[in-house]
Amino acid sequence: MLFCNSLRPKLTLSATRTFSCLVQSKAFINGNWINASTNETFEVINPANGRIVGSVPNMNVNDAVQAVQAAKNAFEQSEWSKFTAKERSSLLKKWFNLIEKNGNEISEIMSAESGKPINEARGEVAYGNAFIEWFAEEARRIYGDIIPSAAKDREIIVLKQPLGVAALITPWNFPLAMITRKAGAALAAGCTIVIKPAEDTPLTALALVKLAEEAGFPDGVINIVTTNNAAPIGDLFCKSPDVRGISFTGSTEVGKWLFRNSSDGIKRISLELGGNAPFIVFNTANLEKAVDAAIASKFRNCGQTCVSANRFFLQDEIHNKFIDLLKQKVEALKVGDGSKQDVQIGPLINSMQFNKVSSYVEDARSKGGKILFGGRPLEDLGKLFYSPTIISNVPSNAKLYSEEIFGPVVSIVKFKTEEEVIRAANNSRRGLAGYFFSENIQQVFRVARLLEVGMVGVNEGLISAAEAPFGGVKESGIGREGSHHGIDEYVEIKYICMGNLKY
Ligand code: SIN
Repeated sequence: MLFCNSLRPKLTLSATRTFSCLVQSKAFINGNWINASTNETFEVINPANGRIVGSVPNMNVNDAVQAVQAAKNAFEQSEWSKFTAKERSSLLKKWFNLIEKNGNEISEIMSAESGKPINEARGEVAYGNAFIEWFAEEARRIYGDIIPSAAKDREIIVLKQPLGVAALITPWNFPLAMITRKAGAALAAGCTIVIKPAEDTPLTALALVKLAEEAGFPDGVINIVTTNNAAPIGDLFCKSPDVRGISFTGSTEVGKWLFRNSSDGIKRISLELGGNAPFIVFNTANLEKAVDAAIASKFRNCGQTCVSANRFFLQDEIHNKFIDLLKQKVEALKVGDGSKQDVQIGPLINSMQFNKVSSYVEDARSKGGKILFGGRPLEDLGKLFYSPTIISNVPSNAKLYSEEIFGPVVSIVKFKTEEEVIRAANNSRRGLAGYFFSENIQQVFRVARLLEVGMVGVNEGLISAAEAPFGGVKESGIGREGSHHGIDEYVEIKYICMGNLKY
């Protein structure tokens, strides 16, 4: 295979498979695969079994400065700056085709470093690659305007031009899709990029960049800096005048820090932060549909998803029935090492996440929450496995209620009226996604408008798609990713006034 390096030691991806060609052990700056300037490295660990999957350069701020400089030079001076929209589109399409061709291998890398079940990893490759395809198409439709002027001798022309260098800071929960959603839009617009992937999952990111190199992006257009010490590099992105935009997906706390820290340079910033999604089931709902959607939304990636249902509100008449149906399905979920075909739920990503989930469940239990299923670690499987859990009677002072769980825990509250549940659902500083289930058309339109979130699933638990705008309100973020709106984060609008024209 093209990327096999016969000198590189074979790496252990899972208990059963021991080989991958796309696994990289160097970062990529200005078209070169390089070590950290200090030669330091850090290990990437499989959360299912604690084995080392690979090791990557532990880069510092000096390395990141090189990456930003390379991206700046490429933006200003390389052939890239003269590429037509069609040429950018063609390159993105080539990248898309290569990702598709290497989908199985990327899925294995992703599953090994994130613990994600292999079938879900395959799903993420398809989902994430759809952003590259989408933005390859959108690259050719970044239209400006010609606006009728009030003056007789003027034309008003509006252009959209690329921002410049964009820094993309991405999380571990969707190691591929969160890069492609940002990179696809940035490259379509004509920006150059520096990617800083999460320290838990740099190998998927490096594999993607390897394929971008193969697709033929000019040197310096795509750069990637790996590190396990993100703060100084984040600080550089905020402070460097050469970085014109930052796009971040991750915690609200880090998002706020980036926002504050980049304010001095009046930098374009796009933030996709945490949620606290309500999942409301009204008495009028189709319960079978609602339970299936609850499973899909809650247990996707072991609950480690920003748009995961976080607070389940069940109306009084269907409360017990919904729980019975849900319990049957949750009991049947197969938890284990994600490399095994039939596994549906893998481990949590690391001990910090594991401790958070365990302590939130204990907190809810101690405040009167009733554990109906699970509520304990699954030590037989490994250190980071936690049982799918259902807790009812969760009080509003429990952390499970007010904060994002990021784990496989269904946290249930009973309600009586629509008015009461809307108030409770909106009583949060977060507003990413919200879901509700109702077969009453009046209620559907009313509630969809009233929920204070950026995305609403009506009788649907999985709403993410390349062609739809992803993003939140309140403290869940700024800006939108995916859809034609996703391009806006990476372009400047320029108004050209053509004056003194004679007609
Ligand atoms: C996220 O959890 O940040 C993204 C989830 C998605 O794209 O559906």
